[in-house]
Amino acid sequence: MPKHIFRLVSLIAGFLAVTIIAIPFLVPDSFYRFGHYRANSVIEIAAQEPVLQTANYCKDCHTERHAQWSASNHKSVTCEICHGTALGHPQKGKLPIPKDAARLCTLCHEAMPGRPRTQPQIQVAQHSSGQQCNVCHNPHSPKIAAALVKVAGNAAAGKRKAADCAACHGEAGISPNDTWPNLAGQHAAYLVRILAAYKSGDQKDVAMTPLAQALGDADIQNLATFYAGLNCKGAAGGKAAGDAAAGKVLAKNCVACHGETGIGSNPAWPNIAGQQPGYLVNVLKAFKAGLRKDPMMAGVSRGLSDTDIANLAAYYAAQNCQSPKQGKAKP
Ligand code: HEC
Ligand code: HEC
Ligand code: HEC
Ligand code: HEC
Ligand code: HEC
Ligand code: HEC
Repeated sequence: MPKHIFRLVSLIAGFLAVTIIAIPFLVPDSFYRFGHYRANSVIEIAAQEPVLQTANYCKDCHTERHAQWSASNHKSVTCEICHGTALGHPQKGKLPIPKDAARLCTLCHEAMPGRPRTQPQIQVAQHSSGQQCNVCHNPHSPKIAAALVKVAGNAAAGKRKAADCAACHGEAGISPNDTWPNLAGQHAAYLVRILAAYKSGDQKDVAMTPLAQALGDADIQNLATFYAGLNCKGAAGGKAAGDAAAGKVLAKNCVACHGETGIGSNPAWPNIAGQQPGYLVNVLKAFKAGLRKDPMMAGVSRGLSDTDIANLAAYYAAQNCQSPKQGKAKP
């Protein structure tokens, strides 16, 4: 055989041999089971970790948010709808916090013809005046509504019982101490609700818990009626460390629920105008730290610095506590 033919044949043979040896290394084993046309095989897909982890996955690490969300109507909107898929979180990075809540929320809540009424709807332009939705709504517990509280107490009976309270809240509901709250002129429905919360243990305070536990339901009604009917004119509106003008700017975020000057329209929520500044500071810090629990205030107070809190306290403490309807027990 001529030399050049032999070289050509051995080159082809060598190439064939290399190809035959290489094929098993280059072709995945599953080729022989699934053939040519394959993306990931069913078995491979089934072996992947799910991208959506469901809310249960978040429960142990984000207990507070999960608890608020579980107790709310928004339970039909799972965490990952708003925060994105959780695969790899927290090891491989943070989940995004929706930057533009208004855009996210209006996806589901903007009023549209034909949108089913089971999904609550708003006229965006009239509803939020351009503010972010989470100024007023906690996305994890968005409901804003008056708890229905009946108040039908007897002020005279309340006055007798209030002798037990005078040491700390004053004879006439004006506290002698910067860090104890005034009660005069407070909404009766709020007083009933908060006393019931101390009594049930939903709210805790070393001074108030044992006192409230000793009160009957009728006592609570009577005390609330008595204090709501008192004139708060003498409220100290004490000296506060913060800057009231700076507080006024921050108070824009509180207007929806506590009114322009701290007199709210919803009787189940507290008035805060003319309240003791030390008490306001302590309460806002307690909301922020989660020691006092309220889903709305938790959202609102989270972003406040200590300086913000001092400024807000200074602003509200200096407001006139006298509401136009003052002096009558309001339901
Ligand atoms: C194993 C614990 C763990 C689990 C499970 C977990 N997270 Fe987190 N998450 C964290 C930690 C830790 C951080 C704080 C990361 C940081 O600040 O660096 C965090 C931060 C976040 C943040 C805020 C990020 C920021 O920028 O501040 C969001 C939103 C969040 N998680 C949502 C979720 C959701 C939704 C789930 C469930 C689908 C979830 N997480 C499950 C531990 C967890
Ligand atoms: C309807 C949308 C929505 C749903 C559902 C939702 N979130 Fe959020 N979440 C938000 C928005 C908006 C924020 C921005 C901060 C705020 O307003 O509280 C946020 C903030 C957070 C933060 C705090 C980030 C920070 O450091 O301020 C965590 C943690 C978190 N969400 C976890 C969860 C978990 C866990 C769930 C499910 C149980 C959940 N979220 C469900 C919209 C949502
Ligand atoms: C994926 C759709 C979706 C998104 C996004 C969404 N929601 Fe909702 N929301 C719902 C549904 C559905 C309900 C009604 C739940 C029910 O009544 O069972 C609801 C209920 C509500 C309610 C009424 C609650 C009540 O108890 O009456 C408010 C307020 C609300 N959402 C505010 C918000 C805000 C604020 C955001 C943005 C942070 C938001 N929603 C984002 C679907 C959504
Ligand atoms: C200034 C405070 C404020 C802002 C900002 C705000 N809301 Fe509301 N929202 C309220 C109040 C107060 C209610 C309760 C009114 C009522 O019961 O009639 C409410 C009720 C709702 C409801 C329930 C309506 C129903 O028919 O049950 C939805 C849904 C809602 N808001 C969505 C939003 C969305 C989405 C945004 C952001 C685009 C937003 N809100 C911004 C104060 C606000
Ligand atoms: C030993 C002092 C003391 C006595 C006595 C006392 N209180 Fe209090 N009260 C407090 C303190 C301190 C707080 C604030 C607790 C907190 O920060 O949660 C408070 C809070 C309250 C609040 C909540 C006010 C608000 O604005 O949220 C009400 C209502 C109240 N007391 C009613 C009463 C009644 C009614 C009595 C008598 C039966 C009474 N208190 C007796 C110290 C006292
Ligand atoms: C979405 C409605 C809402 C907004 C906005 C809001 N609050 Fe509140 N606030 C409440 C409710 C409801 C309570 C009663 C909580 C409870 O029952 O424990 C409360 C309670 C308080 C209290 C306790 C009063 C007392 O007598 O114990 C203070 C102080 C307070 N808010 C200050 C503020 C400040 C400051 C802002 C603005 C940065 C603000 N709130 C914004 C709803 C709101």
